[in-house]
Amino acid sequence: MKIELTTKSRLGDIDFSNLPFGKHLSDHMLVCHFKNGQWQEPEIRPYGQLEFSYGLHALHYGQAAFEGMKAYRKADGSISMFRPLDNFARLNKSAERLMMPQIPEEIFMNGLKKLLEIDEKWVPSEDDHSLYIRPFMFASSEFIAARQSDDYTFCILTSPVGPYYSGTVKVKIEQEYTRATGGGIGYTKAAGNYGGAFYPTAQAIKEGYNQVIWTDHRDHKFIEESGTMNLMLLVGDTFLTPPLTDRILAGVTRRSIIALIKERGWNIEERPISVEEIVEAARTGNLKEAFGMGTAAVVSQIDTIGHQGTNYTIPAPKDGRAMEIKKMLNDIRLGLVEDTHHWMMDVEIAQPA
Ligand code: COI
Repeated sequence: MKIELTTKSRLGDIDFSNLPFGKHLSDHMLVCHFKNGQWQEPEIRPYGQLEFSYGLHALHYGQAAFEGMKAYRKADGSISMFRPLDNFARLNKSAERLMMPQIPEEIFMNGLKKLLEIDEKWVPSEDDHSLYIRPFMFASSEFIAARQSDDYTFCILTSPVGPYYSGTVKVKIEQEYTRATGGGIGYTKAAGNYGGAFYPTAQAIKEGYNQVIWTDHRDHKFIEESGTMNLMLLVGDTFLTPPLTDRILAGVTRRSIIALIKERGWNIEERPISVEEIVEAARTGNLKEAFGMGTAAVVSQIDTIGHQGTNYTIPAPKDGRAMEIKKMLNDIRLGLVEDTHHWMMDVEIAQPA
């Protein structure tokens, strides 16, 4: 791996007590090109601008996918990543569906570990803060024929972040627009899945919400996921979450929370949940809590669900189940309890000789 270090770190310019999500990118990045059917030598270099041709394939056809993962500063000062191999596997799953090459584990994991070692001072230690890691791949051939690219570029950027939402979240059940269709690319982290969501989300924001809850593409009768998060509802004493389909992103946070809920002995059902069922539960007070789960969003409590012009208030207690689950997850991430699931992967930092 080629390594070129920056001569001018930007770390001193960062106010770690004010970190708008994704605004500050760390000093270094990993770049690896795929050319002539082969991955080239990866390189770590100072974060900088991309020089590109206006014929860059990804700009025309959106052949691009990304991941979101995090590294944490543990209570003892060491650095650890949360389930990085799960994100690695999901990026390759997205790549397969989008006709992009598979990234070798060695390039992904060795590059990531080295990048974190080099930029270790960028990993925050404040409560609810972490280093967000953004691996992504895009089609980088220079031609505009509508077929898959020949060349690709894989990069990893990192960014110190605080909470994604500053407080509780208001969501609107979206029954006009659709995020994903059957047989489509909803289960991937294709760039276009997010680009296509911006317009309906902007409409919801204008109406006073933070996000939409997507519903099924056919009849808009069943809930799917919410913007950047999977959904969990506590109805009575049972947790409910929609089952994974090819329209829903298989969240790593979702999978982890389901495991924690089961381990705790709480009831959970992964099954289709109708809009009617949620609205009725919200109306009668049987919807005890609702929250979104995601890498960026972690556990984000939902305090309002809007449906056809009516807003239903959902309790968002500080001492409820959502916050308890968030703490269980954070305790593992910060090394405050034993990591019995082996979810954390430590980053070795070489000590200066
Ligand atoms: C993540 O949680 O990593 C996401 O994908 C959200 C991101 C689009 C901000």
